[in-house]
Amino acid sequence: MSQCAAIIAAAGSGERFGASLPKALISLGNRTLIEHAVAALAPIASEIVICAPAGYEKQIQELVGDDITVVVGGTTRSDSVRAGIAALSGKSKYVLVHDAARALATTELAQRVLTSLEKGEVAVIPGLELIDTVKSVDSQGHVTSTPDRTTMRRVQTPQGFDLDTLKKAHASGADATDDGALVEAIGHKVLIINGEERALKITTPTDLATAISLLGTSTGFRTGVGVDAHAFADGRPLWLAGLLWPNETGVEGHSDGDVAAHAICDALFAAAKLGDLGTNFGTDKPEYAGASGVTLLKETFQKIRTAGYSISNVTVQIIGNRPKLAARRSEAIATLSAALGGANVSVLATTTDGMGLTGEGRGIAAIASALLIKQG
Ligand code: CTP
Ligand code: MG
Repeated sequence: MSQCAAIIAAAGSGERFGASLPKALISLGNRTLIEHAVAALAPIASEIVICAPAGYEKQIQELVGDDITVVVGGTTRSDSVRAGIAALSGKSKYVLVHDAARALATTELAQRVLTSLEKGEVAVIPGLELIDTVKSVDSQGHVTSTPDRTTMRRVQTPQGFDLDTLKKAHASGADATDDGALVEAIGHKVLIINGEERALKITTPTDLATAISLLGTSTGFRTGVGVDAHAFADGRPLWLAGLLWPNETGVEGHSDGDVAAHAICDALFAAAKLGDLGTNFGTDKPEYAGASGVTLLKETFQKIRTAGYSISNVTVQIIGNRPKLAARRSEAIATLSAALGGANVSVLATTTDGMGLTGEGRGIAAIASALLIKQG
């Protein structure tokens, strides 16, 4: 068998997904999208190059291990692929170009692409038939024609190429949303083979939910609730919802006293039946003494993931007179979500009409809920 290299485009920011970390680092089941993509190609690729978002090279290298080359991607997907091509050893006759966002494409699909290359095709791309009728429209939105949908395909990755042909196709420095288009543009034949529904491109949180169901092993949902409260203490910085709040009074406690983070940890532990904050990070675990709320969230996330859970969503409501959350709500959501592998997080706040510990302004509390999906 001829050698086959692989390039995984993972340098996008995932704007449409809306998480605070790049899409390749979003969790799906027990690993990130980039780890899924690597696992699918590793059995048939003799070398793999990942195009990473700038600033995330090290994190991705640590996730995938030293056998894989990680380079910084470019501004557009085509630029990223060119950076990947430049980093290849050049020893392989063939190359597969894959999107990290198509995390669930199978090794079997990659193998079928490669088999067609080995039979003499220079460009092979997976595609599926259209379900909906499509229309061409003008700039006003008026239909100009109705193409025959039976002659059309929606295409996926991994796309396979003869390496020299792909290099020539990219030599112009042109931009296209897939590599097949660039090969077409230099006049080569591109073959479409049957794609797979699992190779969907995860673009929005709804696609992630579809991907979780495609993992096919969901054994149900579990909910959990967590509560935490701390009294204000002069002279301490206030950490809340993963953020430092300058000019606000902090709270008592051995840790940073982030009640929102702690309530979320307990909600996650409760849903996963993994005990609580005390049993996981208590005084008998001195390595967690003084750990920040964000650190505890990250650790909790790893523990529930190892136990086979994905997060469907997390909600936390902060109860207290101060600080006023509204201006920093999106920052709080982004910070908490990033600590939880890009999970869907809501943050709310309320007061208690002057009643109780928080209403009297003596402290701050939070109540959180989590919905987990059990995998496998
Ligand atoms: N990609 C890349 N370099 C870029 C842009 C995209 O390597 N400059 C990669 C993405 O990481 C993804 C694939 O190309 O694996 C397909 O792109 P898309 O699904 O559009 O991902 P994003 O660009 O991250 O998402 P968005 O367009 O919503 O920001
Ligand atoms: Mg994009």
